[in-house]
Amino acid sequence: MLAVVIFGVVLLSSVQVETKFKSLHCTNYNKTLGEIKLCKIKAINRYRNSISIQFRQKTTVHNVNMRLELFKRANGWRPFLYNISFNLCDFLSKRNNMIVRLGYEYIKPYIPITNYTCPFKKGHLIKVTDLEFDIEKFRIRFPIETGEYAIQLSFIVARIVTLTLNGSAEYYNYREH
Ligand SMILES: *[C@@H]1O[C@H](CO)[C@@H](O)[C@H](O)[C@H]1NC(C)=O
Ligand SMILES: *[C@@H]1O[C@H](CO)[C@@H](O)[C@H](O)[C@H]1NC(C)=O
Ligand SMILES: *[C@@H]1O[C@H](CO)[C@@H](O)[C@H](O)[C@H]1NC(C)=O
Ligand SMILES: *[C@@H]1O[C@H](CO)[C@@H](O)[C@H](O)[C@H]1NC(C)=O
Repeated sequence: MLAVVIFGVVLLSSVQVETKFKSLHCTNYNKTLGEIKLCKIKAINRYRNSISIQFRQKTTVHNVNMRLELFKRANGWRPFLYNISFNLCDFLSKRNNMIVRLGYEYIKPYIPITNYTCPFKKGHLIKVTDLEFDIEKFRIRFPIETGEYAIQLSFIVARIVTLTLNGSAEYYNYREH
């Protein structure tokens, strides 16, 4: 295992790595609950971009379940690595899911309030600003091959999917000449 990690690090330092968001979709299925104010990809330069999302709560919500699904593109989108459901309120108060915690630690620098807890109050603006995809942080833990990947987050209130956020990113590398 250690050998694999060391090999990975050596390999990584000898190639140029590039990751960019390719798509972003925010779909609101219940306008009574809230409103998507922003959902966009912004170019930083030719090689880098970032995403920003804002959602305004219109109703106080006491309990939210979430599903996190990963996909890899191979003749359409195929399930990849994780498909997990969890209770967002429990997670926010107990940080009780290791995989979710890794994702949360990653987005933390891009959200203004890091101590959200339930209920999600009416009028609240949930936002993620200029989130970049840093493949190095993922490669430390997961042996990700080049390709196109997608993540879909579904927010479930009273057993109904009310909001989905999904984005894809392309990861490729090339050797320096
Ligand atoms: C939208 O959410 C509200 C508040 O939870 C609920 O009363 C209503 O039934 C939902 N509408 C749909 C279409 O799911
Ligand atoms: C994830 O699991 C749910 C519930 O079992 C299922 O409905 C969904 O299709 C799965 N998603 C993927 C990408 O396999
Ligand atoms: C979250 O942190 C802010 C600022 O540090 C604090 O004012 C607020 O009371 C905290 N909220 C909760 C629910 O802990
Ligand atoms: C993301 O959402 C869009 C719009 O709902 C959908 O067309 C697309 O297939 C979704 N992507 C994945 C990877 O689920």
